[in-house]
Amino acid sequence: MSEQAAGRVVLVTGAAGGMGAGHARALAADGWSVVLADVADATPVADEIRAAGGTASAHRLDVTAPEAWAALVADVRATYGALHGLVNNAGVSRRLRFMDTTPEVWRQVMAINADGPFYGIQACAPLMRDSGGGSIVNISSIAGQIGYFSPSYSTSKWALRGLTKSAAGELASWGIRVNSVHPGLVETPLLAGSDGFVSSAVASIPFGRMGRPDEVTAVVAFLLGEGSSYMSGGELTVDGALVSNGTYHRILDEMEGTL
Ligand SMILES: NC(=O)c1ccc[n+]([C@@H]2O[C@H](COP(=O)([O-])OP(=O)(O)OC[C@H]3O[C@@H](n4cnc5c(N)ncnc54)[C@H](O)[C@@H]3O)[C@@H](O)[C@H]2O)c1
Repeated sequence: MSEQAAGRVVLVTGAAGGMGAGHARALAADGWSVVLADVADATPVADEIRAAGGTASAHRLDVTAPEAWAALVADVRATYGALHGLVNNAGVSRRLRFMDTTPEVWRQVMAINADGPFYGIQACAPLMRDSGGGSIVNISSIAGQIGYFSPSYSTSKWALRGLTKSAAGELASWGIRVNSVHPGLVETPLLAGSDGFVSSAVASIPFGRMGRPDEVTAVVAFLLGEGSSYMSGGELTVDGALVSNGTYHRILDEMEGTL
């Protein structure tokens, strides 16, 4: 447990499962009081954290509903009296190609992945300001750094990158830092049912493997903590060197012996 995190409060969305649950567990183990928010039931994860000696509470939140955000932040203010961190982690992916993406799918993905974090930042920032400032971490994706075949997912994750930079400028005077994290392929239920896609994608990753959830958690914890105190409006890519190297790794593999 770090002394730095003790007594500090962080809200993690999408904390009932996947990487969000991992972030919540690790941050609690580090001393953060963790507010777990999810449209699904995050009680089992909060119970687990408390059983391990941590501080946590589970809350139902649909990130697409501004009024639900307002109610949750009022609850956090009443219960904890402060908020120092927000991890906008909740997200959905619909792997539909451009011409197959219906208006309904487009709106659903944009609502959860882009509107949700915007509402969350608006709702949480005043309490963070009143708490002496804090750090917001937006979980984007490498699909928010390159063109990705699913237009709803890629556009929503690019939007989150822009939202990060806009909020970083606006909220600096309140002592609030805002950064984005861009994971590559990470082993979670989000990728369930896409084995062929995953094995083929791994062949393009210079590290030759998917990322582990804890490798993303470590970067989230860094951005929430004092070690990144002069960092805002930035982006950290956690992808085994995929985006920085394009497809050269795969091309060289396929041309082995012919160069
Ligand atoms: N897994 C990957 O390879 C990968 C790569 C890059 C980025 N990401 C991003 O990381 C984040 C977490 O991904 P994951 O793989 O852990 O996903 P996941 O599907 O395992 O978990 C997502 C969580 O978000 C919750 N959620 C969905 N809609 C919600 C809503 N409207 N309101 C509140 N909560 C909602 C779900 O209930 C779930 O608990 C997402 O933003 C995702 O886009 C994942």
